[in-house]
Amino acid sequence: MSLKYIWYGHGTMGLETDGHKVLVDPFFTGNPAASTTAEAVEADFIVVSHGHGDHIGDAVAVGKRTGALVIANFEIINWLGAQGLEKLHPQHIGGGFKHPFGYLKLTHALHGSGLPDGSYGGNPAGLLLTTHDGKKVYLACDTGLFASMTLIGEEGLDLAVLPIGDNFTMGPDDALRAVKMLQPKHVIPAHYNTWPLIEQDAAAWGARVEAETNTQAHVLQPGGGFEL
Ligand code: NI
Ligand code: MN
Repeated sequence: MSLKYIWYGHGTMGLETDGHKVLVDPFFTGNPAASTTAEAVEADFIVVSHGHGDHIGDAVAVGKRTGALVIANFEIINWLGAQGLEKLHPQHIGGGFKHPFGYLKLTHALHGSGLPDGSYGGNPAGLLLTTHDGKKVYLACDTGLFASMTLIGEEGLDLAVLPIGDNFTMGPDDALRAVKMLQPKHVIPAHYNTWPLIEQDAAAWGARVEAETNTQAHVLQPGGGFEL
């Protein structure tokens, strides 16, 4: 069974496993790095990591158009319900659930989660997916560095996707420290080069990762994919 990761630009990404399309943080409208649109993207499931506009983005529109089941923390799910979405699954930090695409656990993230209209969005989350055949993927989403990343690394990660943009999340130096704690087989950077404020040299970061760790770094262009 294959697991495919797709980067749609910024913090918007997809996972395809066992024929299920999982769309994470569907931010297309107003995303200068977006490789597709809210009208064209396909999704069977949508996962929202936190309430910020560059993550919850087009979740309501894509959810309504595709009929995808939307997964997020309890507070965000309540908010999405008030926007008219009906296929909803609430989870919360530390809790996992066996979805058709695999076992998805919400993990700690060091960030905010306020919703676009100022509503309370609960705590921000990272995502840890275990596929049916045991592959483990950690999407850190928006976060600063935290020491308990070592606990996530203990799960034995095949792939980690880490923000490197700095300013709002980890920058390149802390993301390199995160790789050393997580020890994934593969790492992919995200949440950079969307705007001048988070411009980074991802290729240089990837070279540092490969010089200082045993992890393979893969720098994608928006629209690019990586298969495990
Ligand atoms: Ni954010
Ligand atoms: Mn963000």
